[in-house]
Amino acid sequence: MEVAQTHIKVQPIAESRLSQIDMNDIPFGRVFSDHMLVARYRDGKWQEVQIEPYGPLPMAPSVSSLNYGQAVFEGMKAHRAPSGAPVLFRPQDNFRRINQSAARLCMPPVPEDIFMDGLRELIRLDSAWVPSAEQGALYIRPLMFATDEYIGVKASESYIFCIFTCPVGPYYAEPVSLLASKDYVRAAIGGTGSAKAAGNYAAALLPDRLAKAQGYNNILWLDGREQQYIEECGTMNVFFVIDDTVITPRLTGTILPGITRNSVLQLLQDHGYKVETRPISIYEVQEAFHEGRLQDAFGTGTAATITHIARIGFGGEDITLPAVAERKVSNWLKDTLYQIRTGQQSDPYGWVEGV
Ligand code: COI
Repeated sequence: MEVAQTHIKVQPIAESRLSQIDMNDIPFGRVFSDHMLVARYRDGKWQEVQIEPYGPLPMAPSVSSLNYGQAVFEGMKAHRAPSGAPVLFRPQDNFRRINQSAARLCMPPVPEDIFMDGLRELIRLDSAWVPSAEQGALYIRPLMFATDEYIGVKASESYIFCIFTCPVGPYYAEPVSLLASKDYVRAAIGGTGSAKAAGNYAAALLPDRLAKAQGYNNILWLDGREQQYIEECGTMNVFFVIDDTVITPRLTGTILPGITRNSVLQLLQDHGYKVETRPISIYEVQEAFHEGRLQDAFGTGTAATITHIARIGFGGEDITLPAVAERKVSNWLKDTLYQIRTGQQSDPYGWVEGV
């Protein structure tokens, strides 16, 4: 495949909207920064890479992304380091993952220079939009979607890759409650569960709404075959602490390979925690709860970072977790990851980089 042009045209906004934003009270995902990166793929190559004012991308109703869901995305964050400079967290991993997702949905890879140079240039240009570490973070959304106007079912031959950003506060303000339900599955073996495919999120909306109607925040997803092995929760990877051992489902192809999940595993292993990546059933969690051995449970994700789980509804009862203040593992992880991401603690892994 031809390499994209490295030159990125910049068409700056006439007047920044930043002064209209209260950075001390930012709702998640509703406020968008001034600029976005847009690259177009056609005739077998990426072209027309441009940074322009954030706004609508006109398209016909016949495009294949709208009709058949040929769309993948990423989520990442920039934080403001103590020096005032914006820093990114593991952007290369998002670059790799979007191309894994793209391959699964029969889409062309985004070249590294468009993703990485475009990302850095965009964040430099909108660096004033990165909230302070106390206020939140700049959520970054790389997105690729099919733009062929054709209603036959086939892989599109044209695409848009774009990156837009939004300053955000916390995704969850409180610990979450989850409903483990056998009525719906998020992913099956051989499906798209490990890809960040837009359609995965659409398919979760109804179960999510039904869980909310029963007083829970999200679904605790069980495997599609035996409907007992825990896979994810809401839009997050999930961890449990039982008998001082941290357990998370291993990646089987139905689970998103979370970058926060991977960072958490690395931190735990390097700090002497007992860690197991293996199948964990809802019955094992229920039994550990009944026997007083369930010490902690939390979700991990870019948007949600580390989110405590308050209770899990299953089989007509609530598995309730200890008070958040008593949770050693998740509190330590939350704090440590925050310190590393915001450049307040040294980063032995090379996860944090400037723009
Ligand atoms: C993320 O954690 O970045 C996600 O992808 C969740 C998002 C759908 C809000």
